[in-house]
Amino acid sequence: FGCFSYDPGFTITASCKSKITYIDGDRGILLYRGYPIEQLAENCDFIEVAYLLLQGELPNATQFRDFNLEISDRAIIHEALRKFFDGFHYDAHPMAMLVGVVGSLAAFYHKEMNVKDPQHRWICATRMIGKISTIAAASYRHSIGRPFVYPRMDLNYCENFLNMMFSRSSQTYIDQDHYIDPFLVKALNLLFILHADHEQNASTSTVRLAGSTGANPYACVAAGIAALWGPAHGGANEAVLNMLAQIGCAENVPKYIAKAKDVNDPFRLMGFGHRVYKNFDPRATIIRKTCHELLSKFQKNDPLFELALVLEEHALKDEYFIERKLYPNVDFYSGIIYKALNIPVDMFTVMFAIARTAGWVSHWLEMQEEQPGMPIGRPRQLYLGPQRRDFIPINQR
Ligand code: CMC
Repeated sequence: FGCFSYDPGFTITASCKSKITYIDGDRGILLYRGYPIEQLAENCDFIEVAYLLLQGELPNATQFRDFNLEISDRAIIHEALRKFFDGFHYDAHPMAMLVGVVGSLAAFYHKEMNVKDPQHRWICATRMIGKISTIAAASYRHSIGRPFVYPRMDLNYCENFLNMMFSRSSQTYIDQDHYIDPFLVKALNLLFILHADHEQNASTSTVRLAGSTGANPYACVAAGIAALWGPAHGGANEAVLNMLAQIGCAENVPKYIAKAKDVNDPFRLMGFGHRVYKNFDPRATIIRKTCHELLSKFQKNDPLFELALVLEEHALKDEYFIERKLYPNVDFYSGIIYKALNIPVDMFTVMFAIARTAGWVSHWLEMQEEQPGMPIGRPRQLYLGPQRRDFIPINQR
């Protein structure tokens, strides 16, 4: 078999060195560049956090203003890129459109791109953060057959995204008086911060692996988006809402808990369990609190949130979940907030991708800047196929 160690899920293998995000899974600690996630979620704007992830330090007021301007300035997309959407069927999954259109950025920005030049790398990173929300909103507009809404420089990142999603051609969603409730913008900002980075998760590792070959960075991020889509990763937020709808009511909860415990049943409680967090996911704690605040502020009695609380309560008391240290993760409650923001369920993972772009490009920058001579990522395998054998002509097989 060769003399390799076998660790298919990277459970005990560090794939890189990084200074960006720290997780202590046993104590439920998450730090971005040393700052606790709770403090950043409470006090920051998402773009401030994006700057922190990219640069290593929080911006001062001037740096923040300039960075905001730079990101807004890069939000516009090429008209030809916008036309890509015309080629998609109206009911194409928005994640499929996102993978395709983000990947096509490589076709727009390839010739002049020199990954060895720090200025080029910076432009590429900020361009990705600027354009991802425009592309994401365009995929939604395409799916509902409404015209594309251009990004606005006078709105902050989250306001601008909501405006591009929901504005009607005759009326902007956010006017001078902030037509949209700032509380909703704050909730979106919070989710974006919580999703912005999470060290070497599957999608970030994909971006790094693709990046290790020297591939075009936009293509690397498209690879990360593809990895995020799966239900074991970012696709879980969409799967949670679908699961809650399937469970339907509190009376059915014990039946579904039993299904999740049955080794012969592939069903899993979506939004439960985490490779690293074995006590609690600090992001889930913050989101759960925000769900309560949001729904009570708008006096919305979301039956799915009530159901999620019942499901959580049952699971946390169950031996199976206790023994395996399975707790709600970030995706268990995030969909309830997205639903309150009128974001359609199939856009949930796209929302995750918008936020995680800040993390992906930070990791891509880090690997280019700090490990210039780094080797190509090239895992080995344990070969289980046939031993050497001789070719047999087709008429003798
Ligand atoms: N429901 C029921 N059983 C579960 C679940 C679950 N959600 N998660 C893990 N288990 C069981 C699993 O069957 C196994 O049992 P046993 O030891 O008897 O074989 C044990 O717990 C360990 O599970 P694992 O699959 O070996 O753990 P992992 O670290 O490889 O997987 C996970 C982590 C997140 C993929 C997994 O918990 C899962 O599939 N959860 C549901 C999907 C989900 O919510 N994903 C979002 C993750 S957080 C956000 C993100 O990463 O994007």
